[in-house]
Amino acid sequence: MEFLFALVVAFACFQVALSGDPNILSDFIVPTNLTIVNGTFFTYTGMRALLNSSEPSTFKVTKASLAEFPALDGQSVSFAVLQYPADSINPPHTHPRSAELLFLLSGTLEVGFVDTTNKLFSKVIQTGDMFVFPKGLVHYQYNSDAKNYAVAVSAFGSSSAGTVSVPTSVFTTGIYEGVLAKSFNTDVKTIEKIKAGLSQKS
Ligand SMILES: *[C@@H]1O[C@H](CO)[C@@H](O)[C@H](O)[C@H]1NC(C)=O
Ligand SMILES: *[C@@H]1O[C@H](CO)[C@@H](O)[C@H](O)[C@H]1NC(C)=O
Ligand SMILES: *[C@@H]1O[C@H](CO)[C@@H](O)[C@H](O)[C@H]1NC(C)=O
Repeated sequence: MEFLFALVVAFACFQVALSGDPNILSDFIVPTNLTIVNGTFFTYTGMRALLNSSEPSTFKVTKASLAEFPALDGQSVSFAVLQYPADSINPPHTHPRSAELLFLLSGTLEVGFVDTTNKLFSKVIQTGDMFVFPKGLVHYQYNSDAKNYAVAVSAFGSSSAGTVSVPTSVFTTGIYEGVLAKSFNTDVKTIEKIKAGLSQKS
């Protein structure tokens, strides 16, 4: 009995230890094909262009994650800059490997997430506010302002937080329409209509 308890505790601790990016046994990780490592390796210039660019016409994410910035390997951090034209949305999605801490630099945003009991937590945030989306939960942001642009910076506790878009993963990946129709308690025609709408969008 005690042994079982110890096993359960050990397993719980193991789970906690695995809940973030793995720890590394070196100060940093250098890609094997890189011969010179200096300050340049630890510098990411990909956001410079944003400062001079005009407002995008649709919602736009610019990431500095492992894929764009190899020096983040093993460091458990990343950033994204989020630009929201008037009346634009970042549709419901999750980040399987990290919480998201959003800092609203300009404009206002309606934000929300849904917990595992299906309770919605939402708020209209103002310029200068921060909002945290807990790890792995479905969340969204909406700039409901008809005139004003909004821009936010989000921090992640993973170098590769991952994004699973709810509309995309459910409706554009080839899941059999009959399965979707049953799941949404509707008919195949309705599912086809949703799919058609999503394919026009992008
Ligand atoms: C190293 O390999 C990566 C991925 O293949 C590539 O993106 C990068 O440009 C390479 N770097 C150098 C210095 O060759
Ligand atoms: C740093 O390394 C890069 C190659 O990764 C090289 O182009 C650059 O000249 C180096 N800078 C200094 C100050 O040595
Ligand atoms: C933005 O544009 C100005 C004028 O063209 C230039 O001087 C400045 O270096 C640019 N800034 C960035 C971050 O690219």
